[in-house]
Amino acid sequence: MDRRQFLKISSALAVIGSLPTITLAASPSPGFDYELIVAPANVRIAADGDTPAWCFNGHFPAPVIRAKQHQPVRIRVVNQLDEPTTIHWHGLRIPIEMDGVPFLSQPPIMPGETFDYEFTPPDAGTFWYHPHMNSVEQLGKGLVGAFIVDEAENPGFDADVVMGLKNWHIRDDGSFTALTTPRNAFRMGTPGRLMTVNGKTAPTYYIPAGGAIRARLANIDNTLTYDINSPQTDLTIVAIDGNPIAKPRPLDHHLMGPGMRLDLGFIAPNNAGETVTLYHKNKVLMTFQTIGEDKQRRELPRLPLNPIQAPDLDTAEVIRFAFEWDASINPIEKDGKVNYRFWTINRTPWDGMSADNIPAPLATLELGKSYIFELSNLTQYHHPIHLHGHTFTVLQSNKQTIEPFHTDTVLLGQNEVARIAFVADNPGRWMYHCHVIEHLKTGLMGYIEVV
Ligand code: C2O
Ligand code: CU
Ligand code: CU
Repeated sequence: MDRRQFLKISSALAVIGSLPTITLAASPSPGFDYELIVAPANVRIAADGDTPAWCFNGHFPAPVIRAKQHQPVRIRVVNQLDEPTTIHWHGLRIPIEMDGVPFLSQPPIMPGETFDYEFTPPDAGTFWYHPHMNSVEQLGKGLVGAFIVDEAENPGFDADVVMGLKNWHIRDDGSFTALTTPRNAFRMGTPGRLMTVNGKTAPTYYIPAGGAIRARLANIDNTLTYDINSPQTDLTIVAIDGNPIAKPRPLDHHLMGPGMRLDLGFIAPNNAGETVTLYHKNKVLMTFQTIGEDKQRRELPRLPLNPIQAPDLDTAEVIRFAFEWDASINPIEKDGKVNYRFWTINRTPWDGMSADNIPAPLATLELGKSYIFELSNLTQYHHPIHLHGHTFTVLQSNKQTIEPFHTDTVLLGQNEVARIAFVADNPGRWMYHCHVIEHLKTGLMGYIEVV
């Protein structure tokens, strides 16, 4: 088999109608839906030269995995890096054995080894996947991809565009700048220089004129909180972090921390050649341009809610978590070394783990019981707080009015206190961390045990 046959490139980046969206899958081994080969690859992201990235199947963007709600998907991961890895399926409520966290859920996939993931997604929506080892480097160098779970019944959009947002830490010649600096790690994180959507600067995607469009944004960046907005007034938020919302509402602007997603629905302008532009703050992220005959759609399809158990708020136990830093330590030690115990959850920094040294959980929950977590950000920086294996409801915040919604990652702004609730219905040891990758690397991580 030659490389061309091996890497089946089956479509362009933006696709109209029922064609698949981005697909770039290595021919899977028999019995597998996808095969992901994790390996170094030179890719063209910058204007003037290649980037020595780490990629899935030799390209960026990574293959968009498409699974179907309530149907098993089998994914073989082959590690061709010189270091161990694991792959985590962010936002999917699947059994702990498939969660892709080293030591807590599986042994690391060593160089040259293969690991087979198989699970059945209970929820439909926009999710993503990434390694859970050496994350600053593995994610920062390009190992990030979109994972779409299609609804059991097709909701009937005319186009479905998947967009991974990442600011690459690269120069114009393609070479990497520092993925982390101590100074930034102890502040908001180190931003990349080159803002991209699916690895392109301000790309244009073609959509059918007058069609019902679903635009899926995934923040697959290590650091940045995107502030999504558009001068167009008729964009509707239909799902947040993968989960459809009960009352779709107009997009004013929406903050998306690392790891978070946003599904926008809109009816495309009726005439060919018209545009709809999405911005991060006042910078153009990407543009849609209409083509073809007017499809004359009037209404957006409705998305069914995901089957998430409602917590019992009357009996729920309240557990408090404070996110802060340890003011008594010097983040950079005298010899210039970074102190990895800077950020803390309830005054405990994450210390790393190994097969025979797994730290204690931050909390132990009883299987089937309802919990309210009160999350307090005692710092001036944003922290997108993520829990594996569960989808929770954001109930309230001291800083903003909340229409309760389902998510796996909640963004806490400066000194924000939020309450979230969920049923601990998935047994296992579930990572619980800030998704600013340098923060989890320097302490802001732990895990919750459900037994
Ligand atoms: Cu995307 Cu541990 O997470
Ligand atoms: Cu996750
Ligand atoms: Cu953080």
